Amino acid sequence: MTEGWTKSSWRDRPRVQMPDYPDGAALAAVEAQLSQYPPLVFAGEARALKRRLAEAASGRAFLLQGGDCAESFAEFNADIIRDTFKVLLQMAIVLTFGAKVPVIKVGRMAGQFAKPRSAPTEVAGGVELPSYRGDIINGFDFTETARRPDPGRMLQAYTQAAASLNLLRAFSKGGFADIHRVHNWTLGFASGANAERYRALSDRISDALDFMTAAGITGETSSAISEVDFYTSHEALLLEYEEALCRIDSTTGLPVAGSGHMIWVGDRTRQPDGAHVEFCRGVQNPIGLKCGPTLSPEDLKVLLARLNPKNEAGRLTLIARFGAGKAGDHLPALIRTVEQEGAQVLWVCDPMHGNTIKSASGYKTRPFERVLQEVRDFFAVHKAEGTIPGGVHFEMTGKDVTECTGGLRAVTDEDLSDRYHTACDPRLNASQSLELAFLVAEELSQRRRDLSRQAAV
Ligand code: PEP
Ligand code: CO
Repeated sequence: MTEGWTKSSWRDRPRVQMPDYPDGAALAAVEAQLSQYPPLVFAGEARALKRRLAEAASGRAFLLQGGDCAESFAEFNADIIRDTFKVLLQMAIVLTFGAKVPVIKVGRMAGQFAKPRSAPTEVAGGVELPSYRGDIINGFDFTETARRPDPGRMLQAYTQAAASLNLLRAFSKGGFADIHRVHNWTLGFASGANAERYRALSDRISDALDFMTAAGITGETSSAISEVDFYTSHEALLLEYEEALCRIDSTTGLPVAGSGHMIWVGDRTRQPDGAHVEFCRGVQNPIGLKCGPTLSPEDLKVLLARLNPKNEAGRLTLIARFGAGKAGDHLPALIRTVEQEGAQVLWVCDPMHGNTIKSASGYKTRPFERVLQEVRDFFAVHKAEGTIPGGVHFEMTGKDVTECTGGLRAVTDEDLSDRYHTACDPRLNASQSLELAFLVAEELSQRRRDLSRQAAV
């Protein structure tokens, strides 16, 4: 066991962004109940994901992580899960073709319920109420009752996560994820209006798949064609929930977070001496760390040592989220810190959280162009530093929402009110997500060409 760590040791550390539950007895009862429930994931799966993330850190795989900003109790049904999963698979095929390495698929799903907020309260119509903190904590409605933290919501979140994961596992292995089927959906996108730019790449994927079929590699002969491995992840924000689902892995005797395969520490909760870092340092899962503009190289150095003391490959994923045009100001110093420390990390780009703006119509939005720009900045900085851009992290949904502006179906400021459904941050819709995958695939192909040119001289 990690020195000085227990699953409750976070309780002695300063905590931020967590609710104060008014009814301690009700909280204790929920914690006791949850701690009896089965874990949602098996420790061996978390270890397998860690091995695969180690591959991504060395450039032999690429991470695609995506899903809702906040899963909600209201927007929970099979179609929503299916559509997000489907778009992630489509994106993964396109990225695999660009990168020519396996793409590791990780959903922000089956557990992404708790949200950090920029202010503890919200004022509307002269009334001040606690901020909404995600369905696992309180309700979205602007009433005193809804906004009161209710520990019973943890049980509902657990049930929803379990049902989501059950369906995702069925889709992953039951034939839904067959590569031909998934690519056929993408053909529909690439033959649509304004998508000429993506048709050539999509046709090349078709050719590759036809070739494989001709060579006898089909869904019947190879599970690599008909099945996928799919993992879940979320921000480990609500530590009472995380602690209650923490289990001892029977294989290694070590603690593991049973709430999801990968958990991450958010940009607002990464204080090196704080409660969130304390909890995460002791569980064996792969851990993500959001790196925003206020992360200093000194703090990063402490966090590298604290979150990955054995310098294990695949353990730590650094998720850069600076905003378009800003990676150049912050990322090089952090990359150099990692290099100086000889730390094993996987670098991933979250081009969402540094690019949220308020539109003229008052909605929070993210312009597609800015999102794409940040991915390009991320690749450019890694190229200059000689390090590896190992993945991307998106807030997206398989639904045709109008939350981010731009993309080939050009969502405008005026369109935002049409289908703005997110419980928190604006997400890329299905078409924007897929388009972004094509554009990232172009970056990845370019990188591959650069590397092989270097190797040839
Ligand atoms: C998030 O990923 O939803 C989030 C809140 O991100 P960050 O911690 O990077 O702000
Ligand atoms: Co978000």
